Amino acid sequence: MMKVLGVLTALQVAVWATPAPVFGDDTTVFPRQQQNGGGTPPPSSCAPKFSWENTILTEASLDKQTADLFGFGKGKLPKKGECKAFPGDASWPSQQTWNKFNATAGGALIKTVPLAAPCHNDWPQVYDNATCQAITQNWSDPHLHIEDPSSTMWPIFQGRTCLPSNDPNAPCTLGGYAAYSVAIKTVKQIQLAINFARLANLRLVVKNTGHDFADKSIGAGALSIWTHKLNDIQFFPSYSCGSGPASFSGPAFKLGAGVVTEEIYAAAEAHGVSVVGGECHTVGIAGGYIAGGGHSPLSSLAGMGADQVLSLEVVLPSGEYVTASADSNPDLYWALRGGGGSTFGVVTSVVIRAYPKIPVTTMTFNFVTSPNVTADIFWAGMRSFFSHFDRFTSAGAYAYWLVVPIAAPPANEFFFQFMPFWANNMTVSQTQALVAPFLAELTALGIPYSTPIFTHFPSYFQAYNGTFPPLEQVGAPTGHSGSRLFPRENFSNGAKLNTTLSAVRYALTNGGVLIGYAIRSAPPQDAISLKLQDNAINPAWRKNLGFFILGGPQTAPDATDATISNNARILTTDWMKRWREASPGAGSYMSEGDINEPNFQQSFYGEENYKRLLKLKKKLDPSDVFWAITAVGSEDWKVQGQLDFYPTQNGRLCRVS
Ligand SMILES: Cc1cc2nc3c(=O)[nH]c(=O)nc-3n(C[C@H](O)[C@H](O)[C@H](O)COP(=O)(O)OP(=O)(O)OC[C@H]3O[C@@H](n4cnc5c(N)ncnc54)[C@H](O)[C@@H]3O)c2cc1C
Ligand SMILES: *[C@@H]1O[C@H](CO)[C@@H](O)[C@H](O)[C@H]1NC(C)=O
Ligand SMILES: *[C@@H]1O[C@H](CO)[C@@H](O)[C@H](O)[C@H]1NC(C)=O
Ligand SMILES: *[C@@H]1O[C@H](CO)[C@@H](O)[C@H](O)[C@H]1NC(C)=O
Ligand SMILES: *[C@@H]1O[C@H](CO)[C@@H](O)[C@H](O)[C@H]1NC(C)=O
Ligand SMILES: *[C@@H]1O[C@H](CO)[C@@H](O)[C@H](O)[C@H]1NC(C)=O
Ligand SMILES: *[C@@H]1O[C@H](CO)[C@@H](O)[C@H](O)[C@H]1NC(C)=O
Ligand SMILES: *[C@@H]1O[C@H](CO)[C@@H](O)[C@H](O)[C@H]1NC(C)=O
Ligand SMILES: *[C@@H]1O[C@H](CO)[C@@H](O)[C@H](O)[C@H]1NC(C)=O
Repeated sequence: MMKVLGVLTALQVAVWATPAPVFGDDTTVFPRQQQNGGGTPPPSSCAPKFSWENTILTEASLDKQTADLFGFGKGKLPKKGECKAFPGDASWPSQQTWNKFNATAGGALIKTVPLAAPCHNDWPQVYDNATCQAITQNWSDPHLHIEDPSSTMWPIFQGRTCLPSNDPNAPCTLGGYAAYSVAIKTVKQIQLAINFARLANLRLVVKNTGHDFADKSIGAGALSIWTHKLNDIQFFPSYSCGSGPASFSGPAFKLGAGVVTEEIYAAAEAHGVSVVGGECHTVGIAGGYIAGGGHSPLSSLAGMGADQVLSLEVVLPSGEYVTASADSNPDLYWALRGGGGSTFGVVTSVVIRAYPKIPVTTMTFNFVTSPNVTADIFWAGMRSFFSHFDRFTSAGAYAYWLVVPIAAPPANEFFFQFMPFWANNMTVSQTQALVAPFLAELTALGIPYSTPIFTHFPSYFQAYNGTFPPLEQVGAPTGHSGSRLFPRENFSNGAKLNTTLSAVRYALTNGGVLIGYAIRSAPPQDAISLKLQDNAINPAWRKNLGFFILGGPQTAPDATDATISNNARILTTDWMKRWREASPGAGSYMSEGDINEPNFQQSFYGEENYKRLLKLKKKLDPSDVFWAITAVGSEDWKVQGQLDFYPTQNGRLCRVS
């Protein structure tokens, strides 16, 4: 067994580090639908800009009057106690000014109509029962929210002011949704929106898909930059650009800010390569995924999403448009890879490396408590699973699984399931050998498990398409979770493992639901020598073995704000507190984290990284144009009128320090 593993690991490292094979010389732009795709790349050089990246705003194009509205650079940091402009304020732009902005931005301005407005008499212009039924039916489908300019996937933090409803008289207001969005098709529109927001003291948000667990893409009274339509994908069979750390050469993709996982995975499959992305079909790769760090079924072999990035194009808070790479704005390049979204500017495209095609074997099975399998025996089975994390992930494998209580709290009945166990570059027999000791322990404990189903796929894409649920459920109006990155050490010996385990068990006994990942961040040798992993990723990821997401206390969809607040308090100050205490100094994943995370600066970013990121934030965005809850620098501002532990985006954003 150990021999098989040792050989595999050595081979995997060796193969990732060898020069990439030749994939053919075609360079293709994949359109999502109709779109204004990119130009032809010069041979073996940096990626050229997409055509819409060449449509930019220049100083020269502004006259005195338009410079007052859309000029570069200038801005004013509001004083403590002052707020961003809000609809109805004297300082809110007039209708005439909005029209001027719209005309200058090519008619791309959209006044927000809440996604569920067709269900409500409050919106007589759009009320329509049939549309309402379709929206109600699809509410849990991420695509519905992605295609809408202002909706997000977790209405709890919007303030639940406009949900699908059978009662047309139920109220529907904008709540935390932005006031206006710009459906971005060119860099110029992004520059106009940023400059306009900065000069008019507007709240500015950036929405891509709206996946973020804390709804970091919305805000009451905001102007929203909606990047979803920037969907170009361009393949470079042998990309090579720059010098020193940037001198990666091999297959790469350039993708627009709006490209989602399923689109880049399909493009990679078409070119016989693999790329690092998440397990969800619809997360935005160049948006929050890379900005937050990005975990992947490939991470145990290839590192994090942010470790794949060779360069990015960015519109800064000043309105200036720059490239961030090892050779160009290296501080910004560092920060944009793990330092969080909506902080340093708007990314318009990224270049990421690709890997050779990789075969995958997946495995699924489940086990459950029963008269013979007491809760103690069940958790001994979990203990056995945890004790193999180091071995599994060192072999390049990853596991996605869940544990749910199947009785009311205090629960003594539980269910475990793989969704799936994922063995990169392994045959079925290699995977069987890898998991055999774990299965033997379950048997020894007397835990019957469903017959493990091993499936071999010739490529990463086919494994992903054949295994992960095509649609993950979103949109729960009161859904709220937290997460923890448990370091290797917490699984390393009996006593430490027991502490970790009892912290986990406590939460589940009280009604929590656990979505878990066995995952390590292991950038390949060549990435390390190119220093691609020298980025702003939360250092807790580098020590991680178990990434655990915890769903908070069950909260009825129609729960009162007070109940939501109280349940959030339990999640943060009791359940998650025990997880934090079991892993002092570790962290949490900002993109799938608790909106109430205490000391989020340390937890989501790491103490040292946070200091460096904050310094850069103050330099690049001295008037705080960009703000998102728990983003770098966000502690200076607060949304007004919020209950403790229930921060929504439905309120005025004001400076508090
Ligand atoms: C069902 C589900 C499954 C998930 N699976 C995974 C997974 O497997 N691996 C993983 O790592 N994560 C996963 N996530 C988390 C996901 O990575 C984050 O939600 C991420 O923030 C989504 O980015 P987005 O651009 O799609 O979403 P958004 O919510 O639109 O954006 C997230 C943040 O980034 C900012 N942002 C977006 N685009 C830009 C841009 N171009 N420039 C600057 N800022 C920008 C937004 O303002 C916001 O602050 C999952 C989430 C869900 C809901
Ligand atoms: C996968 O492992 C095999 C040995 O089992 C090795 O020959 C092959 O090169 C590896 N491929 C990758 C992409 O790691
Ligand atoms: C912006 O202009 C376009 C094109 O003229 C128009 O269709 C749209 O309604 C305008 N948006 C707003 C918010 O007025
Ligand atoms: C809307 O349509 C559904 C399904 O046809 C029907 O059951 C419901 O009563 C209608 N609601 C209203 C308010 O008309
Ligand atoms: C709902 O989903 C179905 C099936 O995916 C799709 O055909 C339909 O257009 C969707 N409706 C809306 C309102 O998005
Ligand atoms: C429970 O254990 C008893 C005694 O070992 C055995 O006879 C019985 O079949 C077991 N039941 C199940 C459902 O496994
Ligand atoms: C993905 O899987 C579905 C079945 O789940 C299948 O119908 C579809 O053809 C697959 N897509 C590709 C591109 O292989
Ligand atoms: C978990 O790991 C952290 C840091 O590696 C360590 O400080 C802590 O003591 C560990 N806790 C347990 C319970 O193992
Ligand atoms: C950990 O827990 C197991 C099962 O409860 C127990 O058998 C073992 O003695 C504990 N180990 C330590 C070091 O506390």
